[in-house]
Amino acid sequence: MTINTATSIAGIPLSSYVCNASGPKCTTQTELMRLGRSTSSAIVMKTCTIKPREGNPEPRLYRVSGRVLVQSMGLPNLGYEEYIRISKELKKYKKPIIASVAGFSLEEYVTLVSAFQKSDVDLIEVNISCPNISGKTQISRDFEQVKDHLQALQNLGPKPIGLKLPQYDVPIHWEKMSELILKYGISFITCINSVGNTLFINPWTRSAVIKPNKGKGGLSGETIEPIALANVRAFYELLQGKVSIFGVGGVISGISAFKFLLAGADAVQVGTVFELDGVKCFRNIDGDLEKMLKYHGFSSVAEAKGKLQLLSE
Ligand code: DHB
Repeated sequence: MTINTATSIAGIPLSSYVCNASGPKCTTQTELMRLGRSTSSAIVMKTCTIKPREGNPEPRLYRVSGRVLVQSMGLPNLGYEEYIRISKELKKYKKPIIASVAGFSLEEYVTLVSAFQKSDVDLIEVNISCPNISGKTQISRDFEQVKDHLQALQNLGPKPIGLKLPQYDVPIHWEKMSELILKYGISFITCINSVGNTLFINPWTRSAVIKPNKGKGGLSGETIEPIALANVRAFYELLQGKVSIFGVGGVISGISAFKFLLAGADAVQVGTVFELDGVKCFRNIDGDLEKMLKYHGFSSVAEAKGKLQLLSE
């Protein structure tokens, strides 16, 4: 018997538990159409800005070890109008299309969300945690600013809005953020973004491994899995099923996806392993998740969701 890994995010059905994360290989129409043809259960587009951007100087992405990357891409993207056009072309793949947006001011966020509210996308992921741009794109660390933004983004249209969150590591931050998410009608969260501003040094050349931002960049892949799991779990407990959760950050295998499911994620997004292995990662991860479900005697994703067992003290 095959186990169906179908799930949903904010009421939008996904044919499997696994899709791409905004970041790798989702910037151009060609890349997005490849995702359309793949088994990724959604097409998540690269975070876009009002104007097209080239991004940071190279080298800006470095493979630290097996399944770990550090990058400071600097939001290379085609500009939001192009993604609105491309989303029409992507309709034919008959799977959810997810826009990702980042503004450099509150007004820009309003422009971006309003525009996608009138587009062909199904969900809008509002990225408030890009670590690579100095200035305004890291508003997720300032709860007053988060409040102002969420207030302004309410009621701009019918499509569900989500927030791309950074890693938090103190309970009061999870609590504060959850309060705002519930108060302002956020429908889903994507947690977590790459862990920002990490520094890798090559001791033989004595140099940083990437050029931008004085060598500092966002860490992704295997190393950040426990950080992401803790964040998913904290929000799962606080949001009590009222808000869907995309788990992301170190989803490198079906076993890893299963851990996110136990922690309480409704679906997972894959960044690093998609960058390294290409579209076959979606089938591999979802297939191995199915085996894990079978092994543990679960007959659906829903049955296993949140079933983390704690050790009694
Ligand atoms: C970039 C990196 C991120 O982690 C993010 O959320 C958005 C953009 C980037 O540098 O392109």
